[in-house]
Amino acid sequence: MKMRLELFLLVTAAICAAGKPLSKAEGRNKLLLISFDGFRWDYDQDVDTPNLDQLAVDGVKATYITPPMLTMTSPSHFTTITGRWVEDHEVVHNMMFNTKTNQKVPHKQTLTRSEWWDNGALPLWITAQNQGLKTASFFFPGGGANYSGQAVDRVLVEMPGHLDDNETEWRQNIDTVMSWFTEEDFNLVTLYYGEPDNVGHAKGPDHPDRKAIIRQIDRTIGYLREAIDRHHLTDTLNVIITSDHGMTTVKKRPLVDEIILNKYLNLIKLASFEILDYGGFGILTPRPGKEQEVFDALSNAPNLTVYKKNEMPESFHLGKSKRLPPIVIVADLGFNLNSRFIVYVNKGDHGFHNGEMDMKTIFRAFGPDFKTNFLSEPFDSIHIYPLMCKLLQIEPAPHNGSLAVTEKMLLHSGGSQRAQVSVALLLLLMFAVL
Ligand SMILES: *[C@@H]1O[C@H](CO)[C@@H](O)[C@H](O)[C@H]1NC(C)=O
Ligand SMILES: *[C@@H]1O[C@H](CO)[C@@H](O)[C@H](O)[C@H]1NC(C)=O
Ligand SMILES: *[C@@H]1O[C@H](CO)[C@@H](O)[C@H](O)[C@H]1NC(C)=O
Ligand SMILES: *[C@@H]1O[C@H](CO)[C@@H](O)[C@H](O)[C@H]1NC(C)=O
Ligand SMILES: [Zn+2]
Repeated sequence: MKMRLELFLLVTAAICAAGKPLSKAEGRNKLLLISFDGFRWDYDQDVDTPNLDQLAVDGVKATYITPPMLTMTSPSHFTTITGRWVEDHEVVHNMMFNTKTNQKVPHKQTLTRSEWWDNGALPLWITAQNQGLKTASFFFPGGGANYSGQAVDRVLVEMPGHLDDNETEWRQNIDTVMSWFTEEDFNLVTLYYGEPDNVGHAKGPDHPDRKAIIRQIDRTIGYLREAIDRHHLTDTLNVIITSDHGMTTVKKRPLVDEIILNKYLNLIKLASFEILDYGGFGILTPRPGKEQEVFDALSNAPNLTVYKKNEMPESFHLGKSKRLPPIVIVADLGFNLNSRFIVYVNKGDHGFHNGEMDMKTIFRAFGPDFKTNFLSEPFDSIHIYPLMCKLLQIEPAPHNGSLAVTEKMLLHSGGSQRAQVSVALLLLLMFAVL
């Protein structure tokens, strides 16, 4: 009897301990967000990718995800990391521009220009840091800027001319990130790779070199999983692998007549500012009084759709932007918007309508808080943000995503479920002994 009482007390104590809600610090896992730029949703379907295939078994895979309208690197990455539509975060192009001064800054040089990124929408790094977490950005677009004067704790910015496909460096970068987690206790790291975007542009999505880079990415994912094990992070690190947009083959002569916009309107006479010759997405400021003339001329041009900013479909979530010029042009899939002559040597491109299957991209996730063997319905990339906040157990900043869309892929709030299981086991044990 005495022994039974002791056991009873012991079991009761254990139940109380298990039932106690885990303190935030104890229950919080770390998060690694990886982006492979321009990874079209179906790039793994014509290449042998054993490591990506294994991820689908060991974690979550979405059939595909839809980037925001404006399927371009900086705008889309910034939607992922802020959970805000492009019209709200205002990173409306890869190039920083000023329609008044005609200043245009190339993509790589914008990466440390806070005035381009810091428009009131707080990225996840800053929100997490304000709640006591430690965060880092390894080449991730937006990570190199300050937000209301606040920098990301640890930042590496990709330099212009950086070689994007060096597999040895890819592995070193993974090792670096792992040591940030284990030796310096970072909670969130975002890691960016410039491939397969470069190969997709230079060679086109159907070129054998694109398949080769997907195999390289697959080996890198194998290396990542090995590194996670080696650093004993398997039970504490969640990983999301995604991308910013897809890629399509540029349509060329003799298959089609390429678009040359100056054939339809005199750009010098009618426009005071333009960014054309940049894939499928173009912007333009008409000279004063020429708004309708520009719109009508472009409406007559084939293989594109022209929009007045204030009449764009609401589903684009672009219309409220103050930065976008009054005229936005979206080319039909595969047509590039050439201004005066065909300078664009790219064989593949993006920037097209986000409803096009070729613009869809990937989503994979694994780690202690994710279900295994879970195939998710397609969803919009904007919903990744609340998922990341949930994983990090932080209060999200105002955003446009919905956790309901992405929550299904999670095991029910990890820690407390484990606690419930141990309570049940203890009760069983108690009844068996008594
Ligand atoms: C961010 O702010 C720090 C000082 O607070 C400054 O040293 C740094 O240059 C700023 N970085 C950018 C990209 O503006
Ligand atoms: C690739 O990266 C490794 C490690 O950083 C470096 O030693 C090597 O020189 C790089 N190769 C090229 C071709 O740049
Ligand atoms: C491009 O526009 C021309 C002229 O309107 C049309 O005949 C052609 O079918 C279009 N091409 C594609 C691929 O839509
Ligand atoms: C997106 O979220 C912001 C911040 O909560 C809000 O101001 C904006 O109206 C939202 N946009 C849409 C289309 O709901
Ligand atoms: Zn990109």
